[in-house]
Amino acid sequence: MINIGVLISGSGTNLQSIVDEIEKGKISGRIRVVISNRKDAYGLIRAKKAGIEALYIDKKKFDSEEEFNRKIIEELSKREVELVVLAGYLSILSEEFIEKYKGRIINIHPSLIPSFCGKGCYGDRVHRMVLDRGVKLTGATVHFVDEGTDTGPIILQRAVEVKEDDTVESLKERVLKVEHQLLPEAIRLFCEGRLAIEGRKVRIK
Ligand code: GRF
Repeated sequence: MINIGVLISGSGTNLQSIVDEIEKGKISGRIRVVISNRKDAYGLIRAKKAGIEALYIDKKKFDSEEEFNRKIIEELSKREVELVVLAGYLSILSEEFIEKYKGRIINIHPSLIPSFCGKGCYGDRVHRMVLDRGVKLTGATVHFVDEGTDTGPIILQRAVEVKEDDTVESLKERVLKVEHQLLPEAIRLFCEGRLAIEGRKVRIK
């Protein structure tokens, strides 16, 4: 049974999708803690409703990004977390954090990486750029986190059609539905030991 820690910053619908799949017995893992850098993240309520420890850690209480990250590491280590999931987490991970959890941090991004990703490209901005560029396909990507932004080895991707009359809201909603399938699937594979990182690639055993 893999101990999972989930980092969030917002509504937590991706968190909810993991909670639901675990409750259905589909994932051989358990969420030991949910940590948010935003006090008002609805995902904290979702965690509490699911009986999961939910922590808000106020970055302003720390002198640096490193100290803030060290506090998160402390809370994860206390609970023997083996897999860190970034589910809409909008804060920097320190080098120390990434080093400590290398190969064990999974992130979900609402586009087909390497398109529409990287610094400053997150949340609704991704869908705005997709619509402005006029691409016919977008999608969701689940990947391991490395030192870069959205540059780690890709685990799963799924395409989503962009419709003529799409707005940011309608497109976001359609992509989120795919995210809610892809993220739990990637976590299930990780917990079954079926993800092999081979250089820049991930092979599913
Ligand atoms: C999702 O679109 C995810 O891809 C992105 O941030 C959003 C989080 O949504 N990283 P939620 O908080 O899981 O509802």
